Amino acid sequence: MKFHSCRGFRGEVTVPGDKSISHRAVMFGSIARGTTEITNFLKGADCLSTIACFRAMGVPIEMDKTVVRVHGNGLHGLKAPSSVLDCGNSGTTTRLISGILAAQDFSVTLTGDESIQKRPMRRVITPLSQMGAQIASVHGNDCAPLRIDGRPLHGIHYLSPVASAQVKSAILLAGLYADGETRVTEPYVSRDHTERMLTGFGADIHTEGTTAIVIPPDELSGQKIEVPGDISSAAFFIAAALMAPDSELLLHNVGTNPTRAGILHVCKDMGADIRLLNTREASGEPTADILVRSSSLHSIEIGGAIIPTLIDELPMIAALACFADGETIIRNAEELKVKESNRLDVMVRGLSAMGADVSGTEDGMIIRGGRPLHGAVIDSHLDHRIAMTFAIAGCCADKETEVLGADCVNISYPEFYTDLERLMVL
Ligand code: S3P
Repeated sequence: MKFHSCRGFRGEVTVPGDKSISHRAVMFGSIARGTTEITNFLKGADCLSTIACFRAMGVPIEMDKTVVRVHGNGLHGLKAPSSVLDCGNSGTTTRLISGILAAQDFSVTLTGDESIQKRPMRRVITPLSQMGAQIASVHGNDCAPLRIDGRPLHGIHYLSPVASAQVKSAILLAGLYADGETRVTEPYVSRDHTERMLTGFGADIHTEGTTAIVIPPDELSGQKIEVPGDISSAAFFIAAALMAPDSELLLHNVGTNPTRAGILHVCKDMGADIRLLNTREASGEPTADILVRSSSLHSIEIGGAIIPTLIDELPMIAALACFADGETIIRNAEELKVKESNRLDVMVRGLSAMGADVSGTEDGMIIRGGRPLHGAVIDSHLDHRIAMTFAIAGCCADKETEVLGADCVNISYPEFYTDLERLMVL
């Protein structure tokens, strides 16, 4: 797909529902008693993979235009699937579902696409095995396919070496089935949607600093979940409006959970004109409308505890830094190497191809901003966030940018190009 420079972005947009929250609503609904009714569910490919997996385990899930209804089977009601569970491109599906499967009284094989089969699963295999699960990488390379033989589990206190909500959530979900309390301590707090939503489903779960603690419930009960707009999808339009000279965008109903909202802090620290309007709460998650205007930006250093709160936005932030005066330094972002693509590597190569002054480091990158970008041919590596980042960069660069494999935006934002075209001022 090809992109050309535009004058700016103007108008209003409602980005689709949050991917992390949509996954969790289906998963928790499936193991709850009663019906869970989900509105603003993200019908992206990843969340559809989660629905397919739970349907394959006997959970009736209805989907119409506006609502997803999950008729939960209760904590102990999942059935053995008749074939391998396919998680597609979704790391969240693979890792979170592993925590649930670890405790079932049946065996399952989990797999996914080429990218999923290269992503590290040792990070869930180790803690779930410590809880008593029988879980193995079929090819012995610590990646999917995974063979999971459910077992009775016991509670542990796991000190996670990574700040990862997928790891934390897998352990907490296994903890729902354990014979005692389960604790997960992270180096920094990662997104806390699991903790918030499980509380709504009636679980006894709380946090103490960077530790999340769950006590196994007898049952969970089905809920109404209103999914807020995904700040990770909003990030592309926030950055677009900041980068392009003649811009003003109003983004409606965006989730602003503090464990996800690092991008708002970074943009403000870079000098961005961003305002939160109409702040409120839906299903235990804070949301707001976000008003963004073109801004002149300056560089920033990003690292430490803020990284997990903007982990998926770092590709877009790196491109944004090309439009800021001075040297932006991103540190402690090694997790980007094990996302849908090696996002550190792919961003350094793509931005360099567009004429940016950027170098990769062990755990991040250094971007010397202020040089205008020019068009280039960019391989998305079938990574949705890379495709969207370079689509926006291409709209703010000279000449033509072509993004290869652009359709992969279906993973998290199927209407992205339609919204982009509508908001663009030529
Ligand atoms: C997610 C957590 C993050 C994020 C991913 C979704 C989640 O991954 O990158 O897109 O829904 O829990 P990690 O937990 O591996 O950092």
